[in-house]
Amino acid sequence: MSKLLVAEGITKTFRMGRRDLEVLKGIDLAVKEGEIVVLAGPSGAGKSTLLHILGALDIPSSGRVILGGNDLSRLGKRARARIRNEKVGFVFQFFHLLPEFKAWENVIIPCRIRGGEEDNSRQKLRERSFSLLEQVGMADRMEHYPSQLSGGEQQRVAIARALVNDPQLVLADEPTGNLDSRASQGLLELFQRLYSDTRKTFVLVSHDEQVARWAPRILHIRDGLLENEVPKMN
Ligand SMILES: Nc1ncnc2c1ncn2[C@@H]1O[C@H](COP(=O)(O)OP(=O)(O)O)[C@@H](O)[C@H]1O
Ligand SMILES: [Mg+2]
Repeated sequence: MSKLLVAEGITKTFRMGRRDLEVLKGIDLAVKEGEIVVLAGPSGAGKSTLLHILGALDIPSSGRVILGGNDLSRLGKRARARIRNEKVGFVFQFFHLLPEFKAWENVIIPCRIRGGEEDNSRQKLRERSFSLLEQVGMADRMEHYPSQLSGGEQQRVAIARALVNDPQLVLADEPTGNLDSRASQGLLELFQRLYSDTRKTFVLVSHDEQVARWAPRILHIRDGLLENEVPKMN
């Protein structure tokens, strides 16, 4: 399998007043196409910061990310945004649905951003949205607004949105972090099913024990560095 995502020497320092806060201290990793990787580590370890950099939502202070053969550090803001829109689906801990749009309209927002040559008629987009909502078990909630959905349902809509541009890479930052255990369980099963159905590449931030047990590969981050990887025996 070829490497879809490569990170080399990633550092990230936030300037806080007159002090520098060094959050990532030199991260190297590679994720193959079709792999699913869990990123684990204590709160404040830099998981979200790293995920944002891997998904072109943020830039590192030094080092580089190569995504699908594109060196993101060589791209300007617009080109980077385009790659992100086309190749990356992002699922956030707090869902980030737009409250004034219905579920199905939220799902197609990345298509609207993408624009372009494809048939973007409202009817076509609605059909596309429906088939994705069906995949995540939300077909009967198309017309609901986010405020009319439970947390688990909102996250399902957010997952459909992450998949709508058929990205190669899906990044999820503690997708079950705000859900009760039952909703979490359902969502993990959904991720497992999506992974085996789509064979996309997934990087999942989680400190959920259930995820850790199931995941084929786990990377542990601590104080801004990855710990040595121990191959899993199962
Ligand atoms: N935009 C920012 N500005 C300043 N500090 C930040 C910013 N984002 C994150 N941090 C700090 O970086 C550290 C790591 O944050 P984060 O990546 O969110 O950790 P995790 O997701 O592992 O809990 C934390 O100490 C946090 O306060
Ligand atoms: Mg985080």
